[in-house]
Amino acid sequence: MRIARYWALLGAMAALAGCARAPVDPATCRVARLAAAPVEASALGGLGMPPAHLSAAEIDAVAACLAPGLDAAFAAVGDRALVGKRFAPMSLGYRASEHGMFLQVYADPAAADSYRRYEAGARIAQGGTIVKRSFRVAADGKVEAYRVFAMERMAPGYAPDANDWRFALYAPDGALVGETGGRGDAGVRFCVECHAAARTQDFLLFVPPAYRMPPTVR
Ligand code: HEC
Repeated sequence: MRIARYWALLGAMAALAGCARAPVDPATCRVARLAAAPVEASALGGLGMPPAHLSAAEIDAVAACLAPGLDAAFAAVGDRALVGKRFAPMSLGYRASEHGMFLQVYADPAAADSYRRYEAGARIAQGGTIVKRSFRVAADGKVEAYRVFAMERMAPGYAPDANDWRFALYAPDGALVGETGGRGDAGVRFCVECHAAARTQDFLLFVPPAYRMPPTVR
């Protein structure tokens, strides 16, 4: 009897500890560790939200927490490139080298197999779409979904200077900020300019190797 009580007590303690360890608040995606003990705001911010340092598990938990909201936003807005497509993660979540953002790359089924082979991949077929989602985290753990970057392979002739990629930038609510060859073209030409550095690998810059997923992971 006493032993049974002891085990019950241990079980309750483990459940409590499990709660305390949940990396994010599921309702707000706020990072629990930083909500409890904010880090000192970094001067590196520059975008209004100072970048916080997160563990790999925290980054993934935030990305997973934000994903359904982003999926719903894009489904509602109905952008042709993104709506109705299933996007699978192509990378772990990771911290961008600049701008204090956290990133995760996704691809639709038409692009995934090739993208997952990275530099050794075949040319992605027409319609293939790759999406890079981003979010920022304040020193107190508050999370803000940020911009969504997309590349969609268009029909031959769409963009001869960019292997027929359409580059598009969206706000996190799904609103289009700009797209090459369409609305707001001038505002997103810089996408092509930077990605042209990877002209020999089809304008794809790929995530740093440490954050790539094995080719068999879906
Ligand atoms: C200053 C350089 C630079 C600019 C400008 C830039 N990107 Fe990128 N982009 C990168 C790098 C580097 C990566 C690799 C992933 C990472 O670490 O960010 C990348 C990755 C991507 C990916 C994932 C596919 C891939 O190449 O691996 C997409 C989609 C993307 N960018 C879209 C855009 C769009 C849309 C814009 C413009 C709104 C843009 N990028 C502007 C550097 C840039």
